[in-house]
Amino acid sequence: PGRQSYSIALIPGDGIGIEVIHAGQVVLKHLAKAIDTFDLSFEEFDWSSARYKKEGKYLPDDALEQVRRFNAIIFGAVGAPDVPDHISLWGLRLALCQPLQQYANVRPTRILRGTTSPLSNCPRGDLDWVIVRENSEGEYAGHGGTSHIGQEWSVATEVSIFTHHGCERIMRFAFETARSRPAKHLTVVTKSNAQRNGMVFWDNVAASVAKDFPDVKWEKMLVDAMTTRMVLKPKSIDTIVATNLHADILSDLAAALAGSIGIAPTSNLDPTRKNPSMFEPIHGSAFDITGLGVANPVATFWTSAEMLRWLGQPDAADLLMLAVENVTDSGIKTQDLGGNAKTVEVTEAVCAEISKLT
Ligand code: NAI
Ligand code: MG
Repeated sequence: PGRQSYSIALIPGDGIGIEVIHAGQVVLKHLAKAIDTFDLSFEEFDWSSARYKKEGKYLPDDALEQVRRFNAIIFGAVGAPDVPDHISLWGLRLALCQPLQQYANVRPTRILRGTTSPLSNCPRGDLDWVIVRENSEGEYAGHGGTSHIGQEWSVATEVSIFTHHGCERIMRFAFETARSRPAKHLTVVTKSNAQRNGMVFWDNVAASVAKDFPDVKWEKMLVDAMTTRMVLKPKSIDTIVATNLHADILSDLAAALAGSIGIAPTSNLDPTRKNPSMFEPIHGSAFDITGLGVANPVATFWTSAEMLRWLGQPDAADLLMLAVENVTDSGIKTQDLGGNAKTVEVTEAVCAEISKLT
């Protein structure tokens, strides 16, 4: 087959999102040039809080049609100090993920070479997890309302939605993910002791899907107990599936336990491949370090590797991760990992390493 060509939509967004996405583009262009199995073309979109403040909207009306033309989307972060977070999140990130049916959010976590976990006595191989997050409903379904605003009896509801369709497809995806890994082990995170409707339903769907995966060992675990297990027995965990809210929280904890939120990648996948999937670093726009040139670009590099893997370029993905880990191992790290390198120095070092390896 000839060279594959992929078109990528870049949505840098706000704050350090812009800095790390540009670093990611530099590395991806360099990688595509260094190995000649594929080509990448990029188009950048200015969908951001700056646009919202100017025009009152994060997205143009035809945003979904525009991004559907691409093979994949790379997203930075959204969030500005002077826009409420629920406006920015629903205005941009969720406005893309939900209609594009990116129902599986996948968050691999491990300790990269040359970095350390804040857990004492946690060797690198002991923390190697994949968190699968339900990304289309649950607590973030947007179902609820606010009434009698300003009265003493004002009231707000936030209803979690668990559909059979939604639970079944994420469980199936999670069992398949667990099956693809050596441990073949899945932990289904729940809170069915306290939440006796939606979470019991979630557990029941897990148990019925499990019947199709006799080769995968699986168990249920309450989300509160899961936090202590992640800290105290990291080696006992492999693949995790959790609701939108639970996995949101557990994956930030996972990223911190693996060394820094500045390295953690996430993929918003439409496993049916009817829509483009969206790849992003887990972190936000980090106003506290915006403009200083110290944002860690590794999360975006790892995210880019996950995108290449999804697009069918596993060798390129492996090469990129090898280059990234050679760089962290050599001590070229940003301040969140205890180093003093700038974003651009890490980026240049990864490009140089790719050249050396090819
Ligand atoms: P954050 O992830 O932006 O920052 C948390 C802490 O981690 C900060 O101290 C920051 O400096 C540090 N940090 C994050 N990424 C880093 C990197 N690449 N290198 C070095 N240090 C890094 O979360 P925070 O502060 O709660 O939120 C800031 C804004 O970002 C808010 O508006 C929030 O809503 C938004 N946000 C957006 C997300 C998204 O677009 N997916 C995800 C999380 C937050
Ligand atoms: Mg989060």
